[in-house]
Amino acid sequence: MINQRYAKITGWGKYVPERVLTNDDLAQMVDTSDEWITTRTGIKERRIRTENDTTSSMAVAASREALKVAGLSPKDLDLIIVATSSPDYLLPSVASQVQDMLGAECGAFTLVAGCSGWVYALTAASQYIISGAYNRVLVVGVEIISFALDFTDRATCVLFGDAAAATVVEASNEPGGLLSFELGSDGSGAMFLYVPDGGSASPISQRTIDERRQYLRMDGPEVFKFAVRTLASSLKRVIYQAGLTPDDIDLFIPHQANARIIEAAARQMRVPLDKFYINLDRYGNTSAASVPLAMVEAFEEGRLKDGDLVAMCAFGAGLTWASAVVQVGTGEISTAHSLFSVGRARYLARRASDAVLDTAQSALLPLYTFLYQRRRKK
Ligand SMILES: CC(C)(COP(=O)(O)OP(=O)(O)OC[C@H]1O[C@@H](n2cnc3c(N)ncnc32)[C@H](O)[C@@H]1OP(=O)(O)O)[C@@H](O)C(=O)NCCC(=O)NCCS
Repeated sequence: MINQRYAKITGWGKYVPERVLTNDDLAQMVDTSDEWITTRTGIKERRIRTENDTTSSMAVAASREALKVAGLSPKDLDLIIVATSSPDYLLPSVASQVQDMLGAECGAFTLVAGCSGWVYALTAASQYIISGAYNRVLVVGVEIISFALDFTDRATCVLFGDAAAATVVEASNEPGGLLSFELGSDGSGAMFLYVPDGGSASPISQRTIDERRQYLRMDGPEVFKFAVRTLASSLKRVIYQAGLTPDDIDLFIPHQANARIIEAAARQMRVPLDKFYINLDRYGNTSAASVPLAMVEAFEEGRLKDGDLVAMCAFGAGLTWASAVVQVGTGEISTAHSLFSVGRARYLARRASDAVLDTAQSALLPLYTFLYQRRRKK
């Protein structure tokens, strides 16, 4: 009998640039105030890269920490996925730079899905593991979004910050790890959050510089509506898909875009706000690094322990969204979770019935083929 494989997060690490940019600093640069930014977004300060930071160097620093926690060396890795929208260069893929700088000997690719990138990458890594193709995958979310910010546009420059976070995902035969996920895309909203120039559709020209078209543009209220719509509904879907209810979830890790979006989701889901992890006050929206950075800090602060169920959701440019339910912990699931959670029992029962159905269908397939061929011959 083939053992069921599970994909578990076994290592985590972060890197944030030293330079802190506060709301008061921004008020010196554009017509804004600490009061406006705090009440409209919840953000107090964010990190901005120094001249020593590149996307690849930040990704490598976070990855080294994650490998240390997992007790692995870079040579143990089977694959590296780097989620980012701000690579060092258009070419090569920044994931290959990270692979080389780490000294890993494996495949590497960059995944672009805006702020949803790391959750997309986590689900991709998990599929390589669950299928049996790979055992150890490094999944990084990293962003130097400040390079694409127009520091004369108060509507966007106050929202974002730079950061990196990395996780190691490993194969296990013990239940846990990624339990369910949902990936979404609605490209009809692409122009609500985009960088006009610098791609093949509109290469850099004099007009780019004159009209500041190399910088991110956003329709804030449209993105806000999309985010509020998506966060609660997608979280609910992945929770039910895992056979759980919102009450079973120990910690919600939402994309750290705006505290008002998170509060609206908590209200809609009737979940107390303190079950939602928030660190956007210190980092702002770090795009693809946002959800993993929050997860790393939740681990560091002891907000997550073995067996805890985490529901996460990211959303952003594309428009995209990605949600997942993950049971953290590398060993056996604690008795409290495996025996007494109705949701967990439902989930395991559904997996077992799926396995029985799969086996039955595989066994019946030759019979169906035989009957089909006989019918055709007649
Ligand atoms: C950007 C955002 C905070 C703006 O908040 P809002 O309440 O929707 O504010 P509006 O855009 O309606 O603007 C209200 C006013 O504040 C002004 N304003 C915008 N940014 C400002 C700032 N930093 N400081 C002061 N005033 C500001 C606007 O110019 C507008 O002024 P007006 O009424 O005179 O035209 C909010 O729309 C948002 O969070 N959107 C989602 C953004 C997001 O999460 N993006 C990333 C997704 S991955």
